[in-house]
Amino acid sequence: MKSLRYRVDAGIAWLTLDNPPLNALSHALRQALIQGLDRAQADAKVRVIVIKGNERAFSSGADIKEFAGDTFYADPFLPALVDAVEASRKPVIAAISGACMGGGLELALGCHYRVALADSKIAFPEVKLGLIPGAGGTQRFPRLVGLETALNLIVSGGTVPASLLKGTALFDVIASESLDDAVRKFAAKLASQACPVRRVRDLPVRHPQAEAFLQFAKTSVAAVARGLAAPLRALEAVGASMSSFDAGMALESRIFTELMASAESQALRHAFFAERAAGKIPGLSDKTPQRKIAQVAVVGAGTMGGGIAMSFANAGFPVTVLEAKQEALDRGMAGIRKVYEGAVAKGKLKAEDAAKRGRLITPSLDYRAAGKADLVIEAVFEDLEVKKAVFRELDQVAKKGTILATNTSTLDVDAIAGFTKRPGDVLGLHFFSPANVMRLLEVVRAKKTRPDVLATAMSLAKRIGKTAVVSGVCDGFIGNRMLDPYAQQALLMLEEGATPQEVDRAIEGFGFAMGPFRMSDLAGNDISWHIRQRHYAENPKLRHMRVADRVCELGRYGQKTGLGWYRYEPGKRDALPDPLVDQILDEERRALKITARKISTAEIVDRLLYALVNEGARILEEGIAQRASDIDVVYLTGYGFPVQKGGPMFHASRVGLGQVLRRMREFAANPHAEPESWKPARLIVQLAAAGRGFDDAPAKETRPKKTPAKKTKGKRRG
Ligand SMILES: NC(=O)c1ccc[n+]([C@@H]2O[C@H](COP(=O)([O-])OP(=O)(O)OC[C@H]3O[C@@H](n4cnc5c(N)ncnc54)[C@H](O)[C@@H]3O)[C@@H](O)[C@H]2O)c1
Repeated sequence: MKSLRYRVDAGIAWLTLDNPPLNALSHALRQALIQGLDRAQADAKVRVIVIKGNERAFSSGADIKEFAGDTFYADPFLPALVDAVEASRKPVIAAISGACMGGGLELALGCHYRVALADSKIAFPEVKLGLIPGAGGTQRFPRLVGLETALNLIVSGGTVPASLLKGTALFDVIASESLDDAVRKFAAKLASQACPVRRVRDLPVRHPQAEAFLQFAKTSVAAVARGLAAPLRALEAVGASMSSFDAGMALESRIFTELMASAESQALRHAFFAERAAGKIPGLSDKTPQRKIAQVAVVGAGTMGGGIAMSFANAGFPVTVLEAKQEALDRGMAGIRKVYEGAVAKGKLKAEDAAKRGRLITPSLDYRAAGKADLVIEAVFEDLEVKKAVFRELDQVAKKGTILATNTSTLDVDAIAGFTKRPGDVLGLHFFSPANVMRLLEVVRAKKTRPDVLATAMSLAKRIGKTAVVSGVCDGFIGNRMLDPYAQQALLMLEEGATPQEVDRAIEGFGFAMGPFRMSDLAGNDISWHIRQRHYAENPKLRHMRVADRVCELGRYGQKTGLGWYRYEPGKRDALPDPLVDQILDEERRALKITARKISTAEIVDRLLYALVNEGARILEEGIAQRASDIDVVYLTGYGFPVQKGGPMFHASRVGLGQVLRRMREFAANPHAEPESWKPARLIVQLAAAGRGFDDAPAKETRPKKTPAKKTKGKRRG
């Protein structure tokens, strides 16, 4: 039987799932399981049936590749399979090892008994895809672990070891060594009993104050669900387990079907697949050789260097931190200590783990200390001359085969590679601030970066818990380059009549974590001011954004000065409207001879989003990003784009690129529009004409092109 091995031994039918790597419950596997079950029922020699997986997984759940087609619902549909297992006349034992998640856990709940290895991973991750368990999980799980535990796990999507659920009725045996032996022993006990079939559906769900508890849970879940539907719907389904099993199952099935068709779940599923796809690089494969990375060095112990060093130490890598001056080194190391102490004080990290991580970071002023490193990451000032000196030095001290990376935000990685005699070993690793927290890592592939260097960087990113996206070389790479036109639209709308709070509220209403003005106040308005000043100097024809300049000229740098686009009360972070900003806006509008108009929420949202999308499309055309979904990953993991919208490119494709194009043309007709801003990318025009979305565009190999990165001094930005 494909996907399943069947063997009878001493009265036990062993049905071993064989769909590597994680025994996803594909249609073929579901069919094979039903056949195996029937065969065991018919075999008089079989007294007990065991369903087991492999070391890595009993089963990780539904095969989500099937979500897009018809096979997901094909007979036997997972709920029917679970029911068939439960209906077996002969006792069925789930032998659980590794991941037992989602549909896999539901299959185990359909079994009459469960024997698990203590470290098996138990979870219902469906909410993370905007779904709820749909094969009886919301009804059977509370019958075994109780209402509260079931709710916690199903609503959070979190993973726990089997050992944590000891004491509930979920597991009949928790084994610490040989799973097969434990199963054999348990099966022998069952075979000696008269009525060994026990169906979970027949058990009651008990809770002393179910109604009050569910009401309380609803308030708490709503507060943390961030507008997502699935957690509250999961609560509704689990709550229904208090009524009859059949009524609960009917509700679960209805909610599952509704969510499956929802835009939110489609976006979350897109995000899931997009992250997986980002790891695939055209031209590279699993066979591309990789370099061994055991020892890391970071040059520069500033904001980024410290965070980068911690990212590696947190993953167990010894890291040497190099600085130019003792004072800067001391400051950097003190910053690192402060972060670890803070984590311990908040109870997020054990003191001994903090100490262990701290010990992995060694400060040094001597470049020769980088000689042993397999990877060196430079995070010094954003100035090409400074970087040149650093890379010349690194070229001298680094051993053969060491990967040399730069964390530059804007400088030309090809030029930086050219400072060494080994440009093939150089690439960009663009971390985001705070580097020890932010998940995104842009891996910048320069012209001469060798495939094994790129492949090593991608798998290293995984080891330090980052989501890596490959970018070609250009000014700002993927994320920051798209942010420029977005910020420009935000400022233009202020000139035309909007207030900072209207702009922020509109895009936060769309789901962004923070609007552009609150974000700028947080990051420091002076950073973008310096960037604009450089732009003005480089391009005398450039339109001056006087509104933003004036705010900075008044020293209103944002939260750090207590005043910015908003005002802040001492010690607080609430952004309060400030009449002085309104006055500046009025004066500037008068100077520009603009009569302020009310800008609708829809216009604010579309202008901000389509500015991102248009630049994203150019980035795709130029081959800076490999695929549209990579751009989505950048915005979802690094820029607070709402996950339920799937990222800017996915969102635009769902709206329809024809509609996006029409809106862009409307915006271009605005007398105050910047002529270049709304020139649509060729790719949008082509795809819109063909009635297609970005997701239809094929993946491309990244290549450095057109928009050159800065040759000398870069912009100091994240
Ligand atoms: N701050 C951000 O949000 C952010 C985000 C991504 C990337 N970046 C990039 O990371 C790099 C560092 O930025 P930062 O914000 O950490 O700057 P920073 O000013 O906080 O730190 C730079 C550090 O480099 C040290 N340094 C300077 N020259 C040196 C040399 N020759 N050898 C050793 N150390 C030297 C300085 O003493 C300083 O401690 C820049 O290229 C920047 O563009 C910054």
